[in-house]
Formats: sequence, structure tokens, C-alpha cells
Amino acid sequence: MRVLTGIQPSGDLHIGNYFGSIKQMVDAQKKSETFAFIANYHAMSSGNGGEALAKLTMQTATDFLSLGIDPEKSTFWVQSDVKEVLELYWILSAFTPMGLLERAHSYKDKTAKGIAANHSLFSYPVLMAADILLYSPDIIPVGKDQIQHVEIARDIAIKFNNQYGDIFKIPAFKVEENVATVPGTDGQKMSKSYKNTVNIFGEEKKQLKTIKKIVTEQIALEEPKEYANCNVYNMAKLFLNEEELISLQNRYKAGGEGHGHFKIYLAEVMWDYFTPYREKRDYYLNNQNEVRAILQNGADKAKNIAAPMMEKIRTATGILY
Ligand code: ADP
Ligand code: TRP
Repeated sequence: MRVLTGIQPSGDLHIGNYFGSIKQMVDAQKKSETFAFIANYHAMSSGNGGEALAKLTMQTATDFLSLGIDPEKSTFWVQSDVKEVLELYWILSAFTPMGLLERAHSYKDKTAKGIAANHSLFSYPVLMAADILLYSPDIIPVGKDQIQHVEIARDIAIKFNNQYGDIFKIPAFKVEENVATVPGTDGQKMSKSYKNTVNIFGEEKKQLKTIKKIVTEQIALEEPKEYANCNVYNMAKLFLNEEELISLQNRYKAGGEGHGHFKIYLAEVMWDYFTPYREKRDYYLNNQNEVRAILQNGADKAKNIAAPMMEKIRTATGILY
């Protein structure tokens, strides 16, 4: 079973990204052949670029390696290191009806938010189809917002195969239904765009400051407290085992402690949880050449699949090479 995913290098990673996506990827490495790439061409479509994009690309790669993406088990690379994807993008464009792109929610949502409506934003699903179809994966794990993009990739692949035979594997998407949405400091879904994130690799004092801002019920110190809908509890539970969870619930029920105490506890358990990852990250930050070498090696592995696939596609479509 081959699983493929792309990650946009779009900012500091937060605990919503970790529990909603990165941890699933790390766990998937145990049972599937995993392909993961940093989607730096995609990031350009929302206006990212220049030194900031280069920096974020390396930062995201460093963070993923630190959090458990294992280059021995996974093929892990930067999208732009395998140029075949751009050639396939053009070829697939000829199999993409305009209506398919005009209906894409993501494009409509992003332009509604004020991101400039340039061509790359519009044709983004075609590049994403190329990302997927080049490597013949079985499954694309996605958040709900990306389902339509995988459906577009399927439509394009079917249209292409109808004309040229069974070249592309038709990918399926998988939505992780049992992955809970991690709340942000204001209680909405944690997201960079809402500026309500608790970052994975923040500085300790800053992290505590962020956690202290988490919105909680106003209630006297001595009163028993509700935990089920408490944002602090709902973040803390991500880091706790059964026993620790029950003990925290009992502290809520007992009264005598305020949310400030629970926030300090959350900051501590979170800090401890990420300590081994932070140590690994410090190592990689001091050895960025090693990260680049891992990515280059990943790109070589990806190319070993992409190059023969592209040859097949060129032959079918009559592109001389
Ligand atoms: P953001 O909303 O901060 O821009 P992204 O859209 O880049 O985050 O999300 C990257 C991955 O992290 C996706 O797979 C997404 O489903 C997951 N993710 C992001 N925020 C959360 C959250 N609050 N809870 C669970 N998963 C999340
Ligand atoms: N569009 C995805 C996102 O914004 C990132 C992505 C690019 C991707 N290419 C992909 C995901 C291919 C899965 C497969 O999150």
C-alpha cells in the first residue's frame, strides 16, 4: 500500500498540525510505503516566495524529520527537486476541463479571503494531480478541505486513461474521521489563519505566555470546574495517558485550583512531550547540510519512480524525448 502526501511550507507548525496530521504520517510509516514531500511550488500560489520560502522549506523539512519522519522508511523530498512534476502538470492541463477548476472550493475560498487570483492559484489542483499521479499511490490521506482536489486528480486521470490506456493508477482519498479537531487558544479550530496557535517548537517562556491566553470559563477558584468543554483540558488530553487524564479530571472536579494552575500544567506536559523532538531538532538545526542530503536522497528515490513514469507518459502522448 503506497500512501502519499504533500505538505505546504507555510509557517510554524502548531499542535493542531501535529495531532491532526504529522503524527498520523509518522504512525503510517510502520505499515505503509509512505511518500511525503514539501510542496514548495504550491506555496508560491498564495504569494510566498524569495528568501522566506527557501527558509520555510528547510524549516518545515527539519521539523518533520525531528518529529519522526524517517528517511529510511519514507521517501521524503522537496517537490521542486523532481522537475518531472512540472512536465506532467502541463500534460495534465490538456485533460482538465475549465469547469472542473472553476468549481474548486479552495480557489473560491482563497480569493474570497483576499489572496490574489493568479493563474497558479487557479491551476493548483492540476499541479496537485501531477504530484499524485506521478507516483501511483493507492491512498491520499486528507483533511476535508482537500477531498475535492483528490477528486479532481481522479477525474483527470480517468480522462487521460480513456484516451491513452491504463497509465495512471486512480488514487483514493482517506479522511481521518477519528482525528479530533484541536482547539486554538480562542476555542475555534486551531489554525495559522486564526492566529490562535500553540506552536510545537516555540521558546519556553513565549509558549507559557500563549497558553496563559487560552480562553476559559470565569469561575471562582474554590468552585468545581467543567473539564469536558474546557479548551485547556482539551489541549492537555492530547498529551496525557489514561491515568494522568483521570487525575486531571479529578482536579477539575475537586475545585480549589483555578484555570491558571491547569494552564501551567499544560505548558509543562507539552514541554516534556516535545523534549526528545526538540533535541533532535537542535541537532538538525546545527546540521542543515545533513537535512539537505536527506532531502536530496529522497529526491533521488522519488525520481527513480517519476522518470520511468514520465517516459511512459511521453511515449503515450507523443512527446519526443
Ligand atoms: P493551518 O490551518 O494552520 O493553515 P494547514 O491547513 O496547513 O493548517 O494544515 C496542515 C495539516 O494539519 C492538515 O492535514 C490539517 O488537517 C491539519 N490540521 C490543521 N489544523 C488542525 C486542527 N486544529 N486540528 C486537527 N488537524 C489540523
Ligand atoms: N494541497 C495540499 C494542502 O494544501 C498540499 C498538497 C500538494 C498535497 N500536493 C499534494 C497533498 C498531493 C496531498 C497530495 O494541504
